[in-house]
Amino acid sequence: MNTLQQIRFVWKPIVFLICLIPALLVVAATVGISGDLGANPVEAVLDRFGNWALGFIMITLGVTPLRRITGWNWLLRFRRMLGLFTFFYALMHFVTWLVLDRELRLSDIIEDLTERPFITLGFTAVLLLTAMAITSFTALRRRMGRNWQKLHYSAYAVGALGVWHYWWQVKKDVTEPLIYAAVLTVLLGIRLLWSLKHKKPGRHRPPR
Ligand code: HEM
Repeated sequence: MNTLQQIRFVWKPIVFLICLIPALLVVAATVGISGDLGANPVEAVLDRFGNWALGFIMITLGVTPLRRITGWNWLLRFRRMLGLFTFFYALMHFVTWLVLDRELRLSDIIEDLTERPFITLGFTAVLLLTAMAITSFTALRRRMGRNWQKLHYSAYAVGALGVWHYWWQVKKDVTEPLIYAAVLTVLLGIRLLWSLKHKKPGRHRPPR
């Protein structure tokens, strides 16, 4: 097997299974196989999926800087999968809220979406992630050309909306949203530095 085949047939399935572990742990805790969801299981499931969605967007945004710093070009082969896992966990978080928290009551859902700004922020992030997930397939990517790149820069907006969404609902201890905000600032800062460097006369190619 050459390197590309190893990535495709060995490493991608392994990474896929690792990314699935948080969801499997939630399922295991829900059916009582392992762990405990505490006194408020719906909130616990909601929180776990929300944290993993935010974690995965940070990991996905970290791929390009890490690749450029280390020269490990193979990292790019995992970026789409990681992005799709961000979408998966955000969707599970959204569906948990829709079905278990709001119990599909349309009036409650509309009221939350329009009157609780942190929910509006989260919903905007889910919409952006949906657009990115739909257009993540190679055929569409080719058809969209430069617009694809522009849309996929929204990953930073998703990160910012996710952090803001989290920050807004925390009552006292902002340590966790602050850590996410710091990570996002570093990732965005690296990206901006690189794009400024590439704007020097004669060099127009943006970093991938
Ligand atoms: C329509 C979309 C969304 C809705 C309705 C929603 C709803 C909620 C709700 C109700 C909570 C509070 C749970 C509690 O009281 O503890 C929450 C927490 C959270 N959400 Fe969302 N959310 C959405 C999208 C997102 C997205 C896209 C992300 C990340 C990218 C995200 C990340 C989080 C995080 C990190 C928390 C805090 C978890 C914790 O307290 O540990 N949410 N969300």
